[in-house]
Amino acid sequence: MVHKPVLVNEVIEYLSLEPGNKVIDATLDGGGHALAILEKFKDIKILGIEWDPELFKNLKITDSRLIKINDSYVNLKKVVKDYKFEPDGILFDLGLSSWHYEESGRGFSFKKNETLDMRFNQEIQTESALDIVNKSSEEELRELISSLGEEQFAGNIAKNIVRIRREKPIVMTGELVSVINQSVPDWYKHRKIHFATKTFQALRVSVNDELVNIRKGLMAAIEVLKPKGRLAMIAFQGLENKVAKEIFREKKKNGVIEFVVKGAVKPSWEEQKSNPRARSAKMKVIQKI
Ligand SMILES: C[S@@+](CC[C@H](N)C(=O)[O-])C[C@H]1O[C@@H](n2cnc3c(N)ncnc32)[C@H](O)[C@@H]1O
Repeated sequence: MVHKPVLVNEVIEYLSLEPGNKVIDATLDGGGHALAILEKFKDIKILGIEWDPELFKNLKITDSRLIKINDSYVNLKKVVKDYKFEPDGILFDLGLSSWHYEESGRGFSFKKNETLDMRFNQEIQTESALDIVNKSSEEELRELISSLGEEQFAGNIAKNIVRIRREKPIVMTGELVSVINQSVPDWYKHRKIHFATKTFQALRVSVNDELVNIRKGLMAAIEVLKPKGRLAMIAFQGLENKVAKEIFREKKKNGVIEFVVKGAVKPSWEEQKSNPRARSAKMKVIQKI
């Protein structure tokens, strides 16, 4: 399944790109945004970073204007230095690729029965969702599911995970969904959002240290941007937005950046209709002073 990029025209418009510019795509994936930028401008250079080695190997685009790097955006400063690449624009499109849910086989989706893993980079990361679910204490699980998933039934879910894993380790996503099913009330199972969504989100964010990485990545990006250069960040979750908001507010207060849009840019109705994933997307845009 090809990942459908969101807010493509808006990214190009708000990054205010011009011929001759250098752009960093900090979350390259299948290159949806990168390809659109390459198509729009003949004279442009893109440095694309993707952390997932398997996704990176599958990347189909070959274009001399695109440098592809298999690394984490946390290392943005080093990458920029190594490639002497001073960016006019930087894009972060956070979260997962559709490929992760549909094809990776790493247990990102509660709709599939796969081994609990959830690592973006299995070559480097040592702790998987399986380790967290089976080794953390009840209190650690409650705290994690509550703070990173904002799950109101975190206490019950944590208690039941610990009870059930005493008999047999929880290995598959289906087993975890069944534990969550036993831990939440019936009304919670009949809402638009699936009852396992928040617990799965919490585990993924924790396994991949996502909030810490976003903070490090955004801080590095602001530092390496050229003066008047712009940064766009597309986020799908409140917690990601919260991290960005804190950083941008502080940088604004210190006279380092200014906001290009108040609040966030959201996808049009047409885009939301044609791509359900776009419904929760919000894009923040800032400019370096
Ligand atoms: C929503 S997708 C990006 C989609 C892309 N913009 C497109 O339209 O094709 C997010 C990507 O970021 C990658 N990613 C997650 N954490 C990362 C990190 N720390 N550094 C670099 N890439 C990361 C994921 O593997 C995933 O492929």
